[in-house]
This record gives sequence, structure tokens and C-alpha cells, in this order.
Amino acid sequence: MSTFRAKQIISKCPNLPTLPAIVQKVSQMLQDPNVGTLEIGQLVAQDPPLAARVLKIANSPYYGLRERCVSTEQASAVLGLKVLRNVVTAAAVMRQFSHLSDRGIDLDAMWKHSILVAQAATQLARRSRGGVGLTPEEFYTCGLLHDIGKLVLLENVGDEYITILERAQRDGLPLQTCERDVLLFDHTDVGSMIAVQWGLPAAIATAIQFHHGPREAVELDPVVSLVAHANLLVKRVQAGNLSAAASSFDPATTRMLAVTPEDVTQVVTLVAEQVATASV
Ligand SMILES: [Fe+2]
Ligand SMILES: [Fe+2]
Repeated sequence: MSTFRAKQIISKCPNLPTLPAIVQKVSQMLQDPNVGTLEIGQLVAQDPPLAARVLKIANSPYYGLRERCVSTEQASAVLGLKVLRNVVTAAAVMRQFSHLSDRGIDLDAMWKHSILVAQAATQLARRSRGGVGLTPEEFYTCGLLHDIGKLVLLENVGDEYITILERAQRDGLPLQTCERDVLLFDHTDVGSMIAVQWGLPAAIATAIQFHHGPREAVELDPVVSLVAHANLLVKRVQAGNLSAAASSFDPATTRMLAVTPEDVTQVVTLVAEQVATASV
């Protein structure tokens, strides 16, 4: 992103969120071979509201657990460390924005969509038979954060942003178009800037930046392509159009991502099940 654009954003959004400390801590602990599932579960348990959120997500149909987890120690043992880190990241980032729940945006719907994109991206990455540039867990972060710019804008731009959201909905226009008309930048610019500030891998910031295109960016970079297509797939499933969701991957895309049409169909089925049952 150009410095000019970053300056524009910072002047409009003085309140940029920081990476939740618990996410940093858990990531550090995961690097330590002496740390096991129990320690991480105990760390999360020290923060009861966060632990409650983690358990709610862990017990949701996204993870398809056969038995309900009643403690974060148990959740970490059942889910495994990498998945637990994803769940803790989701819970901690969601908490950072929970005060926006009565501000004219359906936060639950936004997080449901983001977690579905996170899941779809992770599943596609797991099924890929080639190198797609990031680990499945990093793709989870891409999906979780791809639209985070919307929340940062809501927090900083306030009523003006609500007007932008309303206009996009009323006129059936892409939100990023309406954002750019008024602000000269959009939620993809803001989201990628947050990823840079949080010290996430550059590929994650790039994927957030280009999740709505342009087409050349999506066609050239497998990470961008996977996240943009996961977003499209989830949107189409959420709109009830499963066949369009399955056909959102053209042959050039499946080739680049090293997945088969059957892989895509499996992910569509999985997302469709979660759309029907999951809540955040
Ligand atoms: Fe978006
Ligand atoms: Fe999205």
C-alpha cells in the first residue's frame, strides 16, 4: 500500500485496533516445544469472558465435536493446538469489536460470514496438492480478518459509515465502491493495513487487500486467489446458490490452487451444513 493511502486512512481512522495480547502470547507459547495443550488451555481459562467465547466457538457446529467441551483445557486437548489458536484468535478479535453491536451493523452475521470464509479457506488449503503459499492456519487468519476493515471503519467513521452501508444495500452496489466514493479508500485497504501493523505475514495483508480484486491480482497470486474464491464460495452458499458456489472456481483457478472440482464440491457441502446450523 502506498504511504499516501496509509496516511489517508490514519487521518480518518485514528483508532486502529491492536493485536490482542492473548493472541501474541498463545503464538509465542506454540513456538515453545515444552508447552503443551494443558498450559495453553490454562492460560485461556485465566480470562473467563474470553474462555466462555472460546468454548462457545469450540462447541459450535464449525468444529463438529461429538462431546461438548466444558473447559478450555479440554477444548485444547480435543481440538489440538493449531485449531485452538484459531479459536482463541477469533474469540479475542471478536471481543475487541463487541462494543459495536448496537451500531447499525449485524456483528453476528459479519462474524459468521468471516468464520465461514476462514473455514472454507482452511479446508481448501488442506485439500491442495501443491504449495499455496501459506499454512491452513494462516489461511484461517486471512478468512477471519478479510473484512475487519469494515469494523474499523464503523468504529472510526461512525454515522458516515452507516450511511455508506445503507447506500450500498439500498442501491445494490458493492460496498467497496460506495466506501471509495466517499472516503477514497475501502475496507480492503484498512484491513490490509491492520494486518501489516499486527506483524502478520505480508501474504496475509496482500490477500486482505485484494479479496475483491482486481482480477489480475486474483489470477496471479495463489494466496489472493484462494481467499477471494473462498469469500465468493461462502457468499454464494449463504445466498442459497450451491451450484453457483461450486462453479465459482474456473479450471485455471483449480489448476493454480492444485485442487479438484470434487474438492471444491466437498467444501461447498461443508460450508452449506455450517450455514444452516452455526452461530457465533
Ligand atoms: Fe470484503
Ligand atoms: Fe467477505
